[in-house]
Amino acid sequence: MTRRYTILGLVGDGIAGEIVPEAMKVLRAVEEAYGLDLEVLGPYDFGAKYWVDHDMRQGWDPAITEGLFREVDGIFKGPVGLPDLLRKLPGPNLPINMRMDLDLYANIRPCRLRPGVDSVLVGRKPGDIDYIVLRENSEHMYVGIGGYLSRGGVTELAIDDYVQTRKGCERIIRKAFEIAKTGEYKGRAGAPLDGKKRVTCTAKWGICKGDDLFKDIYHEVAEDYPDIEQDTTWIDSWSYYAIMRPNFYDIAVMPNQYGDIMSDMSGALQGSMGLAGSLNAGDDHCFAEPTHGSAPDIAGRMISNPTSMILSVGMMLNWMGNKHGDSRLKEAWRGIDLAIDRVLGAKKVRTPDLKGSNSTSEFGSAVADEVKKGG
Ligand code: IPM
Ligand code: MG
Repeated sequence: MTRRYTILGLVGDGIAGEIVPEAMKVLRAVEEAYGLDLEVLGPYDFGAKYWVDHDMRQGWDPAITEGLFREVDGIFKGPVGLPDLLRKLPGPNLPINMRMDLDLYANIRPCRLRPGVDSVLVGRKPGDIDYIVLRENSEHMYVGIGGYLSRGGVTELAIDDYVQTRKGCERIIRKAFEIAKTGEYKGRAGAPLDGKKRVTCTAKWGICKGDDLFKDIYHEVAEDYPDIEQDTTWIDSWSYYAIMRPNFYDIAVMPNQYGDIMSDMSGALQGSMGLAGSLNAGDDHCFAEPTHGSAPDIAGRMISNPTSMILSVGMMLNWMGNKHGDSRLKEAWRGIDLAIDRVLGAKKVRTPDLKGSNSTSEFGSAVADEVKKGG
């Protein structure tokens, strides 16, 4: 009998209401094409607007409980946040809190130049860029330790503490080598330039203590992977080299805040933020969400590119496939990935960010139709 997987869907703000339904279409298509039974709870309203519309003190939609986050097999969520509400809302709806609560220590953010997409870099072609920003997701500037000194109602000082631990560094660096080994979430294993499996460690050692620790642990862990090439570059240099020779990179592992910044830069290298999928992954739980934000400036016009959301959901299926040893889920991810390549490569259906004139839903339907063809 086919096992049923339960997935929690959360919508979010801005363009989330446009791109999440497209991911749902694709989930329904993979069910059909790969004989899967995927029960989706929701997708429920969630995010900044939800809190405002429902009186912030009230909390979650009664159908969503924090317990549910731990019970389901996977979670996906559209981007959340509206600029006017920044710093005015309580925390639990933020992705960073979900990352901490569920201990999702790895943020996997692939950067791939896909067929049919023009590069912003002169002369780079599809296949030339295929690396992963592997962002540590539970430490560094994001631990939320720090505070304000206020005197007489005036904020005079603000402190943020950056924290890196042996456990935190070790598990993300090990994950980088493991992903390099399998090449999962990439178009192909290895770097496009020479096919070599390579893990680049990037941070600012010599200046930041936590980054000294990060690099030292990188060298320790690398000893367990003699077949994978080592590479270390300061993060400022990496922002240069990733643009000058993106084809050299395979997996780039880095502390949290650098990963936040470099994954947006990598969105540009892919040709659009709308192509930037991402997965927050732990050992027991995961949640998928695009790398980008809620884009309120373009929301409501159905011009957003749902690829990022669709890819994120596909990555979630792959993670579930690993966890349950279910190859159909892993095939479903590959099917989604290839369907996106085929639709983009055909250059017939494209959203405005890629110089097309199709709507969010026309693009989502084209991907879902392609998924149904399988292979
Ligand atoms: C991201 C976002 C988040 C982050 C924000 C929304 C807190 O920019 O997922 O990259 O900084 O991690
Ligand atoms: Mg970000």
